[in-house]
Amino acid sequence: MSVVFSGIKPSGELTLGNYLGAMAQFLTYQEEEAYFCIVNQHAITVPQEAAELRQQTRRLAALYLASGLDPEKVTIFIQSEVPAHAQLAWIMTTLSQMGELERMTQYKEKAGGLNESIPAGLLTYPPFMAADILLYQADVVPVGDDQQQHLELTRTLAQRFNYRFGETFKLPVAAVAKETTRVMSLQDPLKKMSKSAEDSGTILLLDSPAVITKKIKRAVTDSENKLSYDPESKPGVSNLMAIYASISGLSYAEIEQKYADIPGYGQFKLDLAELVVGLLEPIQRRYGEIMAGDELDDMLTIGAQRASRVANKNLHQAEYAMGLSRR
Ligand code: TYM
Repeated sequence: MSVVFSGIKPSGELTLGNYLGAMAQFLTYQEEEAYFCIVNQHAITVPQEAAELRQQTRRLAALYLASGLDPEKVTIFIQSEVPAHAQLAWIMTTLSQMGELERMTQYKEKAGGLNESIPAGLLTYPPFMAADILLYQADVVPVGDDQQQHLELTRTLAQRFNYRFGETFKLPVAAVAKETTRVMSLQDPLKKMSKSAEDSGTILLLDSPAVITKKIKRAVTDSENKLSYDPESKPGVSNLMAIYASISGLSYAEIEQKYADIPGYGQFKLDLAELVVGLLEPIQRRYGEIMAGDELDDMLTIGAQRASRVANKNLHQAEYAMGLSRR
């Protein structure tokens, strides 16, 4: 059985990108030893309003369940409730070099233009993420494409630790979705669909069917009016096709074939909207029930206990190896 770890930040509303890039993959690992974390300590690398963060944390826990994760099989927990994360994060920070942290693409994107006021947490976030993963001796980390560089750093830090202090950590690998490892904005298909850009280019998991349909109808395409998968010259259409392929299970060739005799993108977009609504509606219904019920707290308490047992054991091993213990 392999060990699987992944996390999502409870900042902003989740998007279809989060779902197709990460959560949908989570569901395929339920027979493994899997940990799915609500990484609230990562959310605070940029300022958060306390009441809002609390709400978003609860909403994300409900979405994990609503998407189909079974807490009897997998461990779902809140990062700040397992202090070993922050403890190993410090150790990983001390193993990191400024240069390698400054080279992280996400850091450069997020810090760009902030000058003096760059929060230090944006820089030291990747070693914290490494700690999340290494704490469970994870083999596999299902993530979207934008996290692959952080996974590389995780491996580098694990290797560095093992080299300096003796074999301690396993080297994890990233698992990425086939078509949807990088879902792009429907309005600007050269940019990633993201929770921070809440415009009509982003489909939110909790958008109503009418809103989803409107956003897809308005999605940027091209004037060729012929459906074919070609991310270089047809990024808008190719992004829609990737979403279509991922939900329907059809290949790009099969989709092209299906619409070969239908000119324009209208029918294709309507069918895609139907697929997305069909995917999200049951999740939204369960989400409503879970938020109204009282199962979340017990699940999160049990999740934190289970995660702590494994995390503390591995943390203590690392501390022992580096001499951070009396014996
Ligand atoms: P976060 O919260 O930004 O995103 C959660 C997951 O969603 C994926 N994702 C996407 N996938 C495809 N297309 C998109 N447009 C898209 N947008 C987001 C992300 O790649 C991610 O898998 N650093 C992480 C959270 C984290 C973590 C971890 C992940 C903290 N510790 C340990 C794995 C293991 C993050 O900010 O994800």
